[in-house]
Amino acid sequence: MTVLGIETSCDETSAAVLRDGTILSNVTTTQLFHSEYGGVVPELASRAHQRLIIPVVEEALRNANVGKDAIDVVASVYGPGLIGSILVGLSFGKAFAMGRGIPFVGVNHMEAHVVSNLIEDPKPSFPFVNLTVSGGHTQLCLVRSALDITLLGETRDDAAGEAFDKVAKMLGIGYPGGPAIDRLAGEGDPAFVAFPRPYLEDHPFEFSFSGLKTSMLYYLRRERITTDTLRNDKRLLANLCASFQSAVVDVLIQKVFLAARKFGVMDIAVAGGVAANSELRRRLSEEAGRAGLVLCVPAFEFCTDNGAMVAMMGYLKAREGIFSSPELAAEPNLEIAQTG
Ligand code: KG4
Ligand code: ZN
Repeated sequence: MTVLGIETSCDETSAAVLRDGTILSNVTTTQLFHSEYGGVVPELASRAHQRLIIPVVEEALRNANVGKDAIDVVASVYGPGLIGSILVGLSFGKAFAMGRGIPFVGVNHMEAHVVSNLIEDPKPSFPFVNLTVSGGHTQLCLVRSALDITLLGETRDDAAGEAFDKVAKMLGIGYPGGPAIDRLAGEGDPAFVAFPRPYLEDHPFEFSFSGLKTSMLYYLRRERITTDTLRNDKRLLANLCASFQSAVVDVLIQKVFLAARKFGVMDIAVAGGVAANSELRRRLSEEAGRAGLVLCVPAFEFCTDNGAMVAMMGYLKAREGIFSSPELAAEPNLEIAQTG
């Protein structure tokens, strides 16, 4: 079975070809121009998807050495995400399928992130706990099988990546801020400021990062630290990055291992752009080793938004005979089923 997977839910236009569970190509174009505005501008994102979707799909087919006629199933994301952006990939996918008379599968973007862990070896064994941390989401899931994913908890306010990006803006180090904070934090002292760790004991699998961002703001105000101060004091900048990053990582780690213990799983997995964070990876692997758990982190190209994870989810659904109607609508707030 050869599947074309399409992802356009935010600012990445991506397409991939998968054959019988193996990825043959994955082409992702990131719309870098949003950095000028300090964040994704929805209208500009959908216009760029419109411009890019055909060349990206053509490149994915070319790289896979597969003609349009060889595609058996098309899968596109139908939510969650920016409605105008989703509509481009969804309409394209449905039209491609209809034009060729082949089945179409609608894919939940957050479920696709979870199965990005099933693309390459080593793969986690079921059941596993998955943490998806990106610019738009922070979700902890229990994965009993690829088609049985339960949401344990998510963020109440800012996503982890969003917190990185907002704090980076306060510190004057640009957008997206995650990679910059990660790089600078490597030179800093994580104990320089004791930022709060919002563990939310009554809701152990939920997250809240907006208070942490506010703590940074108040700290900068109280100490009269401006972006000019930080431009001239690299040591201070590195210390603030390290202190902020360690607070975020402490919270993420504590909840992942709490979930692993509660549900008695032996495998844990991470997905999303923040999974690139070196401190998060280092601590996860250290703690997993200590707890005797297996840790899986996809290659970076499958952590950020990509067509390959959509093709994988499309394949897993199609294999079970799960297809979508051509009337499937975009759902910007689509959720993963939550525990009762
Ligand atoms: O998954 P992604 O590419 O896009 C979506 O949000 O869907 O994630 C992007 C997020 C941004 O917030 C970015 O700052 C963050 O991932 N990020 C990082 C790192 N690399 C990317 N955050 C922390 N450390 C990193 N090394
Ligand atoms: Zn995503």
